[in-house]
Amino acid sequence: MIVVTGATGNIGRTLVPLLAAAGEDVVAVSRRERPADLPAGVRHARADVGDAAGMRPVLDGADALFLLLGGELNSHGESPRALVDAAARGGVERIVLVSSQLNSTRPEAPSHARLRAFEAAVRGSGRDFTVLRPSGFASNAFAWADAVRAERTVHAPFGDVALPVVDPADIAEVAAAALREGGHAGRTYELTGPEAVSPRQQAATIAGALGEEVAFVELSREQAHAQMARFMPEEAIGGTLDVLGVPLPAERKVSGDVERVLGRPARPFAEWAARHAPAFR
Ligand SMILES: NC(=O)c1ccc[n+]([C@@H]2O[C@H](COP(=O)([O-])OP(=O)(O)OC[C@H]3O[C@@H](n4cnc5c(N)ncnc54)[C@H](OP(=O)(O)O)[C@@H]3O)[C@@H](O)[C@H]2O)c1
Repeated sequence: MIVVTGATGNIGRTLVPLLAAAGEDVVAVSRRERPADLPAGVRHARADVGDAAGMRPVLDGADALFLLLGGELNSHGESPRALVDAAARGGVERIVLVSSQLNSTRPEAPSHARLRAFEAAVRGSGRDFTVLRPSGFASNAFAWADAVRAERTVHAPFGDVALPVVDPADIAEVAAAALREGGHAGRTYELTGPEAVSPRQQAATIAGALGEEVAFVELSREQAHAQMARFMPEEAIGGTLDVLGVPLPAERKVSGDVERVLGRPARPFAEWAARHAPAFR
């Protein structure tokens, strides 16, 4: 049995059907009622990942745990050891954790201290573990969807700074491999897209997927901070803006880990934009 946290999120929405299609016994965790789009045969558990005692019965009898920290769990909450211990007591033998590329490139960043603590707990758990360290997600472009729908405009900072954004579907496929197959224990994978793309190029790609013009308006760092504060914890914003605006050479680099694990190149941003064009129409 595989327990998937963050099951309704960008990665989880792909991961759950993938595991189910492969014949795995899946328990999808979310805080709400069973989502309507969960595949038949997938069990649903209503629980809060931030509450280890509440997660304990969900983890009972599980072989593997996909551990993703949603929203505020990235900045505060119980000791990561509490959840990892609950997993161990439930019988979990394998943990796949979604962390961040920043834990390679900026190991002191205060914004990612909690993800680092989860990495340490998972590494020290005595379970088989795989740590996924993705770059910025292609799906962060959903933040532009309202303005594209309303006024065919993308408002974003650092318009010409290109970064190799990763498709969450690729993260999900790598996670599925690490959860189901041998050979990934003790590994840390850095997951990026196949090429660096700037926000201006992303806007043009979305325009191409819509078959319509989309304007680009560059925001100042302060304006971007205010925009991000609507959907990100305050603690995470500064570090994220540093990466978007002044990336280190290692953050501009394309990693080969998606291709190494999946045996095919990472998906380009254009593929994500084509799949999600209806959200921008
Ligand atoms: N976005 C990026 O550029 C980026 C880059 C590197 C790393 N990351 C990391 O990736 C992770 C986010 O992945 P994602 O985009 O797939 O997630 P997401 O779309 O933000 O979804 C996370 C899901 O977690 C659930 N959730 C939130 N708080 C919860 C809680 N307290 N208990 C149980 N479930 C909770 C929510 O579902 P319910 O409401 O249904 O419970 C939500 O759908 C974060 O750890 C982030 O640090 C993100």
